[in-house]
Amino acid sequence: MEFVRLLLVFLHLLGMGMLIAMVFVQRREGLEAPVNKGWLHGLGLQLLTGVALMGLAPLTHQDYNHIKLGVKLLVLVVIGVLVMMNLRKPASPKWLLPALSGLVVFNVGLAVFWS
Ligand code: HEM
Repeated sequence: MEFVRLLLVFLHLLGMGMLIAMVFVQRREGLEAPVNKGWLHGLGLQLLTGVALMGLAPLTHQDYNHIKLGVKLLVLVVIGVLVMMNLRKPASPKWLLPALSGLVVFNVGLAVFWS
């Protein structure tokens, strides 16, 4: 079971890397360019692997802080809603990319500094 947890953590970290990469992809496309669908792929991976890690906690003998995971889930939902709201628009508001970037980095900070 430890291998399954490590595999999920591995994919979870790749998902984080993908979201950070999206910040630069979106920046290169332009601050007001349409939202790139890659955000949804990264968010989907984070949601699946994060919820799987949480759900398997009794089997993997992990004692996660559920308030922290709840806040991380909430932040992910906010990012997802912002992306979905702007997905079909021909141009993004200028504040969107800084907001998405800040929220992703905020979740990494939560993961690392809140034990
Ligand atoms: C933007 C979204 C997210 C980002 C960037 C993110 C980032 C991270 C990072 C960097 C770690 C590793 C921390 C460390 O090992 O010290 C981590 C661990 C973890 N994350 Fe997330 N996360 C996100 C969303 C979620 C969600 C929605 C959940 C579940 C509700 C979740 C559940 C977990 C769990 C359970 C761990 C601990 C894994 C372990 O070490 O066994 N994450 N996350």
